[in-house]
Amino acid sequence: MGAPLCSVSRLCRASWRAVRPGCQRLHQTQPTGKETHFGFQTVSEEEKGERVYQVFENVAKNYDLMNDSMSLGIHRLWKDWLVRYMNPTPGTQLLDVAGGTGDVAFRFINYVQAQREKIRRNKLDHQQNLSWSDISMSYSQEQKGSLMGSKAVICDINKEMLKVGREKSLQLGYSEGLSWVAGDAEELPFADEKFDIYTIAFGIRNVTHLEKALEEAYRVLKPGGRFLCLEFSQVNNPVLARLYDLYSFQVIPVLGEVIAGDWKSYQYLVESIRRFPPQEEFKEMIEDAGFFKVTYHNLTSGVVAVHSGFKL
Ligand SMILES: C[S@@+](CC[C@H](N)C(=O)[O-])C[C@H]1O[C@@H](n2cnc3c(N)ncnc32)[C@H](O)[C@@H]1O
Repeated sequence: MGAPLCSVSRLCRASWRAVRPGCQRLHQTQPTGKETHFGFQTVSEEEKGERVYQVFENVAKNYDLMNDSMSLGIHRLWKDWLVRYMNPTPGTQLLDVAGGTGDVAFRFINYVQAQREKIRRNKLDHQQNLSWSDISMSYSQEQKGSLMGSKAVICDINKEMLKVGREKSLQLGYSEGLSWVAGDAEELPFADEKFDIYTIAFGIRNVTHLEKALEEAYRVLKPGGRFLCLEFSQVNNPVLARLYDLYSFQVIPVLGEVIAGDWKSYQYLVESIRRFPPQEEFKEMIEDAGFFKVTYHNLTSGVVAVHSGFKL
């Protein structure tokens, strides 16, 4: 199942690439000498991994509050949309990569539970001569396995984000169907063909090698499995694009400073959005990774897009 949270030895086995400052790494990554971008700056590939790790370590505690403040709560609607579009059935195995504090996984569990409830009601509704013991039996069976084997694995490179997510899951009362695993999207600590659905929400723009993350998504999906990515994208309405730029560069870092005392991390988040490939280009990259029937939907005029592809 890969590296459970805080299991350093398993992390190292998976050649975890990100270096956590102050955390001794047993497997030192060889510098590649290649450069990449960190927001608008050019840095070495190794430095990018370290700096992305630091950004999310810094923001972890305030991540949910900042998400709500920056997006005026709209991120919740985008995530709701993603899970409705996914339309998972009871039994589905989900891998949510860069899953952070668990928002997508929690929605998945809620959705599957609601589906399960619908199925049960339908079944009871269509049953002739229903007795009280039939109904009561159906409810007691329900309590034993309300997810019918569905599971969501939340995988993230950042242990702080996972820690916050795990605490949140306990506060919200999620008792089954979730597991939290530390791992890199570019080198997932899972066997081949293990999951029905792979999601990555607002995570893929942070990885150093997009192609590697897509290859890994393909590898861990079962044949017939689905890739779904929710990510900031290119706004297709010129007026909104202008306002969005103003808001992103003038307001978000200020909010970051005021709420979380961290201008720089939020400056990076804004810049990283602008560096991410536009809808069509990203679609081609997903196809190049081997996925079929790749499509995308723009939400809020392309502020975000949901890309979907199948492993056939
Ligand atoms: C903006 S947050 C998104 C969290 C969550 N998916 C959500 O929608 O709220 C981005 C997440 O990507 C994670 N991340 C960055 N690089 C990663 C990598 N290479 N592998 C796995 N996770 C990564 C960060 O640690 C962070 O938790």
